[in-house]
Amino acid sequence: MTSPAVAQKGPYLVQVEAGKTYYWCSCGLSRKQPFCDGSHKVTDLTPLAYVATQTETLEMCGCKQSQDKPFCDGSHETL
Ligand code: FES
Repeated sequence: MTSPAVAQKGPYLVQVEAGKTYYWCSCGLSRKQPFCDGSHKVTDLTPLAYVATQTETLEMCGCKQSQDKPFCDGSHETL
């Protein structure tokens, strides 16, 4: 299993829209962080689909180590 790359040692603030599906990059290689751009194809990792339950600003994990994916849980502070 491939270990994810650290895209950023901190969360990405993203505005999401209720009912829309977002594909969070789990591999850390995407150039469109925190979302998937297909770069994971060189790994065995895949994006995580997230359907927004409301329109809001979220903190999405940038270090890819969160235990509460796709959200930031503070894991970047241990890196
Ligand atoms: S580019 Fe990272 S999961 Fe798709």
